[in-house]
Amino acid sequence: MNAEIPLPGSDSRALPVFPHRDLLGIEGLPRQAITSILDRADTYVAQNRKPDKKTAVLRGRTVINLFFENSTRTRTSFELAGKRLGGDVINMSVSASSVKKGETLIDTALTLSAMHPDVLVVRHPDSGAVSLLAQKVNCAVINAGDGAHEHPTQALLDALTIRRRRGHLEGLIVAICGDILHSRVARSNIHLLNAMGARVRVVAPATLMPVEIERLGVEVHATMAGGLKDADIVMMLRLQTERMSGRYIPSIREYFHFFGLDYEKLRAAKPDALIMHPGPMNRGIEIDSQLADDIHRSMILEQVELGVAIRMACLELLTQRARATI
Ligand code: CP
Repeated sequence: MNAEIPLPGSDSRALPVFPHRDLLGIEGLPRQAITSILDRADTYVAQNRKPDKKTAVLRGRTVINLFFENSTRTRTSFELAGKRLGGDVINMSVSASSVKKGETLIDTALTLSAMHPDVLVVRHPDSGAVSLLAQKVNCAVINAGDGAHEHPTQALLDALTIRRRRGHLEGLIVAICGDILHSRVARSNIHLLNAMGARVRVVAPATLMPVEIERLGVEVHATMAGGLKDADIVMMLRLQTERMSGRYIPSIREYFHFFGLDYEKLRAAKPDALIMHPGPMNRGIEIDSQLADDIHRSMILEQVELGVAIRMACLELLTQRARATI
C-alpha cells in the first residue's frame, strides 16, 4: 500500500500503488486507497482548467469503453480522461457490435481482451456482470455501473466534490434521498462515506428502501424532515424507472410532494448544507428545478467537472500498477 513508483516522462510526482488490478466497487476498499485516488484526482483538477490539458501518462496505453447501458457523464468523462492522459480511447458501440448478433458478454470480453487493451471500462444493466467479465480478461477493468450494485467512480467523484468544499469527509452528516432500492450510486456512496468516517442517512418511501439496509451502517428515515435534520450534504437520487417493474410510487406529484427536494424541505438541513445529484436529473420529480440551478447550494455541475479528474486518477493508478508489476 505504501509503495510508490515515479511517473514516466516529465511528471516527477510520486504515485501510490493501487492495491488491486481492477476497480469493481468501493466495498472493501481501505480508507488509504480511497484517499490515494482522491489525492491524485485533486492534482488533475487544475490541469483540466488549463487550455493545454494533455499529458503523456497513458502514452501507448489503450482504454476501451464498453457500455451496455446509456450514459452521458460517465462515458464522456472516461473518454476525456483517457485522451487527456495521452492514451488511445476506443468507444465501442454495443448497438453496432456483434452483441446484436447474439455474442455473449464473455465472448465479447474475450474478443476485446485478445486485442491487448490496458483498461476496459464497462457498464452493464446486471449486477455482478462487470465482475464476471473481469475474471475472463487480462487487463484492468473499471466498473462504470453494474445494475443496482455499484458505481465506484461516481462515489469517488462525489467524495472529491465534498472534500474540496468542506475540507474533509469525517463526521459530516450526509443524507442520501430517493430511490435507494435501485441505486448503485447509493450503495457505492454508503460504502465510501462509511469508510471515510461520515454519518450516512438514507431517506425513501418504504417501497424504495431495501430490506435491512441498516446492515450497511446507515440511519434509515421515512421522512425528509427527519432525514435532513442538521445534514451537511443532501444527495438526491433519480427514480430508476428502467429498473422498475410495476408501481413503486402512487404518482409523480405525490412523490415530489413528500420526497422531492425543494427550499422548504431543505430548511431542515444545516443553513449552509450543499446539494448533490449524480445525474441525469428529473427536474420537478426528485428536485426542484430552481434549487438544482442555485449556485449557492447546488454542486451538481461541480460533480460533473470533478468526474473527469477522478477518472484520470483511476486510469493512471490502474495502468501504473500494471507497469509496476511487469
Ligand atoms: N451519473 C451517471 O452515471 O450519469 P450517466 O448515466 O450519464 O453516466
